[in-house]
Amino acid sequence: RSPDLLEDESAKKKSRVEVRRPPPLDIRSYKFHRKLGEGSGGKVMLASFSPNKQLVAIKIVPKKPNRCNYPWISMEAWLLKIARECPFLCHSHATFQSKAQAFFVLEYAGGGTLYRMISRQKKLPTKSIQFYTAEMVVALQFLHSNGIIHRDLKPDNILVDNDGHIKICDFGIAAAGMFAGWKIRGLAGTPGYRAPEMLSLEAYDAGADWWSLGVIMYEMATGRKPFAPSLDPAKEFLDMKLTKVDYPSHMSQEMLDLLPKLLEMDNNNRLGVNGTIREHQFFAGINWSELEKRTTQTPF
Ligand code: ADE
Repeated sequence: RSPDLLEDESAKKKSRVEVRRPPPLDIRSYKFHRKLGEGSGGKVMLASFSPNKQLVAIKIVPKKPNRCNYPWISMEAWLLKIARECPFLCHSHATFQSKAQAFFVLEYAGGGTLYRMISRQKKLPTKSIQFYTAEMVVALQFLHSNGIIHRDLKPDNILVDNDGHIKICDFGIAAAGMFAGWKIRGLAGTPGYRAPEMLSLEAYDAGADWWSLGVIMYEMATGRKPFAPSLDPAKEFLDMKLTKVDYPSHMSQEMLDLLPKLLEMDNNNRLGVNGTIREHQFFAGINWSELEKRTTQTPF
């Protein structure tokens, strides 16, 4: 062969060497440790990324071709990416899939859930309730302004990270495309946290998330739920209509004013829906622009 051709070949080989990259990282780059919990649609495992030992939480969602859960999987993957823009939402580092499963590699929040915190402490101090609620307000306003309703807000889905800030997780049943005026139908969420308009099978909007926030606040303040949960939505709705919420006397005046405005049966009059919640006296002293940066010191 002519020396020219040989040179050509060695140049080709060289360029092939130059573009060689590390093998694409896949789910085998993670070492699984233990189960963290059950999310909507699949279990969540604690794992570490082998190259640098960083802890992550991996949600594993089985694909169900017969039950058509593919659109939900795609939606969750998309929402987990959008969540990267808000520090109080648990986002994905990466997503993978095998033939049978989808894997969402999530930030690991090492402080446990709000559920665990309430179970242990029963009543949280007002300062902590103010702080957690304010971070949830920022997260909800971010979601709603992007046309997303979470639909399953509850203390099990509020994580606390290693620095004491909250991360709302599990977008498995969230609804997207919910811009001004749009409403959705369909029972979703968890008994005890569902808004009256959802239980009565009416069309609903982001107001449903503000109701759930009211329930969560009440639970942080008292260690119990304001309304009796039931697997039967009609029963839960009827109980709710008949219940006069018991607001204990230890609640602060500001909380006593705020809570009934969130636990307002009429979605149109519910606080949160009209965008003025940040101005409520309960949040006095909160510097919202600092809080949004997640640089605010936790009150404990
Ligand atoms: N449980 C469910 N998701 C989690 C996460 N991202 N971090 C810690 N615990 C979790």
